Amino acid sequence: MANRPVEVRPPAGSLGVLTPGLGAVATTFIGGVEAIRRGQATPIGSLTQMNTIRLGKRTEGRTPKIKEFVPLAELDQLVFGAWDPIPDDAYESAVKAGVLDARDLEPLAEFLHSIRPMPAAFDRHYVRRLDGPNVKAGKNKRELAEQLREDIRRFSEEKGCSRLVMIWCGSTEIYLEPGPAHQSPAAFEKAMDRNDASIAPSMLYAWAAIQEGVPFANGAPNLTVDIPALVELAKERGVPVAGKDFKTGQTLLKTILAPGLKARMLGLRGWFSTNILGNRDGEVLDDPYSFKTKEESKLGVLEYILQPDMYPDLYKDVYHKVRINYYPPRGDNKEGWDNLDIFGWLGYPMQIKIDFLCRDSILAAPIVLDQELFLDLAQRAGLRGIQEWLSFYFKSPMVAPGLYPEHDLFIQHWKLKNTLRWLGGEQPITHLGIEYYD
Ligand SMILES: NC(=O)c1ccc[n+]([C@@H]2O[C@H](COP(=O)([O-])OP(=O)(O)OC[C@H]3O[C@@H](n4cnc5c(N)ncnc54)[C@H](O)[C@@H]3O)[C@@H](O)[C@H]2O)c1
Repeated sequence: MANRPVEVRPPAGSLGVLTPGLGAVATTFIGGVEAIRRGQATPIGSLTQMNTIRLGKRTEGRTPKIKEFVPLAELDQLVFGAWDPIPDDAYESAVKAGVLDARDLEPLAEFLHSIRPMPAAFDRHYVRRLDGPNVKAGKNKRELAEQLREDIRRFSEEKGCSRLVMIWCGSTEIYLEPGPAHQSPAAFEKAMDRNDASIAPSMLYAWAAIQEGVPFANGAPNLTVDIPALVELAKERGVPVAGKDFKTGQTLLKTILAPGLKARMLGLRGWFSTNILGNRDGEVLDDPYSFKTKEESKLGVLEYILQPDMYPDLYKDVYHKVRINYYPPRGDNKEGWDNLDIFGWLGYPMQIKIDFLCRDSILAAPIVLDQELFLDLAQRAGLRGIQEWLSFYFKSPMVAPGLYPEHDLFIQHWKLKNTLRWLGGEQPITHLGIEYYD
């Protein structure tokens, strides 16, 4: 087993939480944390706040809360900052997003008004359905990235932060494949200097964060930090990174159900998933270039879980389709329908239908909170580069070159908890349990 970090530094002082993007997810997260801090709400959906962790044997009865076992920052220590091309403050943005009801938002109005987005590094080429006046100007991408670094430093100083974390909660950018500019930190910097089209705005935030020693996670499916140049830089600078794409509604259910079907060796002929949603995210995803990025992220999941090469009788040629339709009347309250054509003993067909009336940002907010607290923990523990143990939260988990991503939610959950045990100096749990019967 790899050596455990010598020491985890304590979470003293304020933790600055920076989000590029102050839309539905970010404002639901920030408003939620404030409501919880005031004792007006419960942090449902958050492992860092609610989940316990079993230590040792089942007979030992040691199951502290995760937050009592590893040293995490307290909610009272969080201070918030954001960038967005749309100048609305967090209150105005939350009202437009329509996720939280007025009865929840009004008591938080003064606090949310105080969070105003800094001018964004934004380019319509990468998010075609959006525009806004609150943007930076610079002669090239390097200059914009340097301005982001100054923002980080200024924010940290003004708020008296002892540490920071950054999570991309911005829109889904157009589909990009890794290219020559993404291969090394030097190539990346030169590409910023010459305004190379393969450097998207989200990458500028990631680069700026890493340069400033700030852990970075990506909640959208864009490449962003998932390129060799930035992973290498993160390792060099001792910065943990994670991504991509929050695993919330339909994909969460897919990674709960598919491992179950496979565990029982039940076959699958097709899985048709369709979504209607009417928020700003839905509007952005209505653009085929942004949808392509999301589609790739959503499609990969089944292939890796079902392993058709190993089980051709069960999973060869599964027809997997994902559709997203922008349907304004629904707002953030998405509806996701799934039809699964499965088969069992002697090939007899069966069907499963799921109609998930979900609330995207309500599912995403606790994920943002957990990632921030865990990334900060990782940094204090001296972990650097890709944090695969946080795959639990992502649709397209980042992994080391040559590894396939683990999508099964239960394996991911187990990995996360074993990593916490390791960080806390406890033995990992294997569930072998043979000793109980000696
Ligand atoms: N809600 C979910 O369950 C969920 C799940 C997985 C992924 N995501 C992803 O999370 C992201 C945020 O989702 P949302 O529902 O809050 O969307 P949203 O449209 O409400 O908010 C995104 C915000 O990002 C801003 N933005 C765009 N480009 C930017 C830039 N370059 N710099 C700074 N800000 C920028 C937009 O102006 C917008 O206000 C999206 O990419 C979405 O695909 C959301």
